[in-house]
Amino acid sequence: MELRPFGRTGLAVPILGLGAGHVGDPALPEAEVGRLLHGALDLGVTLIDTARSYGLSEERIGRHLAGRRDEFVLSTKVGYGIPGFDDWTFPVIAAGVDAALGRLRTDRIDVVHLHSCPLAVLERGEVVAALQAAVADGKVRVAAYSGDNAPLAWAIESGAFGSVETSVNLVDQRAIERALPAAKERGLGVIAKRPAANAPWRFAERPAATDVALYWERWRALGLDPGPYEWTELALRFAAWQDGVHCAIVGTSRLEHLRQNVEQVAKGPLPAATAAAIRAAFRAHGDGWEGQI
Ligand SMILES: NC(=O)c1ccc[n+]([C@@H]2O[C@H](COP(=O)([O-])OP(=O)(O)OC[C@H]3O[C@@H](n4cnc5c(N)ncnc54)[C@H](OP(=O)(O)O)[C@@H]3O)[C@@H](O)[C@H]2O)c1
Repeated sequence: MELRPFGRTGLAVPILGLGAGHVGDPALPEAEVGRLLHGALDLGVTLIDTARSYGLSEERIGRHLAGRRDEFVLSTKVGYGIPGFDDWTFPVIAAGVDAALGRLRTDRIDVVHLHSCPLAVLERGEVVAALQAAVADGKVRVAAYSGDNAPLAWAIESGAFGSVETSVNLVDQRAIERALPAAKERGLGVIAKRPAANAPWRFAERPAATDVALYWERWRALGLDPGPYEWTELALRFAAWQDGVHCAIVGTSRLEHLRQNVEQVAKGPLPAATAAAIRAAFRAHGDGWEGQI
């Protein structure tokens, strides 16, 4: 797997990472989870992204991969959900980092994001200072922001973060115009989330989940022609090879899918005309389509 320098953080990240949202699903058997997580590292998928809110995800990564901690870049997200603390305060960030260290069974986390933190909270400064204190304490290597649109722009401009994570995919291209060039100019690491656009082509009918439904509607409105490509290949090669993106974190519950995705992304960028047609479709239909958190 090709590695890229992660902005100016000093880390090197694979072009395809694993979004470990599905890993947190209690319905996914523990043995499958172990196979997926070990299989990811064996494939060279050496960035794993999780969050406090992803169910069992953090504790499962700790359980299965504590013995391989030096082999991957570990990314998580904080800001909420610690009993006894108000969300989006200094103490909840500090406690959130400590809780993540415990669940992930490690003494350091490479990248910790403020998870979809609202703009007004960022501007208050308290949570940013708390995350930077965790960096100063050696618990976190890179202070990061995960989100989209106005708060993402603030985060990039602020100089307070070493990297960002944001939606980049066929149906969510706003960051390509604004955030990616700005992040690149400032030397920030960039993780592309939802790179497969939540695979809307799986659904004949409008899906129930609101975020997936929004992408499904956009996908239908764009009327893209995948040409010779499977949809997942089209989507992942589009996202992972956008200028300014360092790592695209695909979410999957299946090692077989991840293996396929690794092979597809390794083929390189889409032909320029194909990528340009996808950009043109978004420009024609995507008026008012903001980045999805
Ligand atoms: N605000 C935030 O910070 C935020 C928000 C959203 C996401 N994220 C991060 O981004 C990661 C990825 O996002 P996501 O999982 O929502 O969306 P995604 O990666 O765009 O799409 C995931 C979907 O694609 C399917 N898929 C993947 N590879 C496939 C293949 N080869 N063939 C067929 N289907 C395939 C998966 O189904 P299978 O399980 O069947 O493979 C899964 O349902 C998350 O896990 C998380 O780490 C962060």
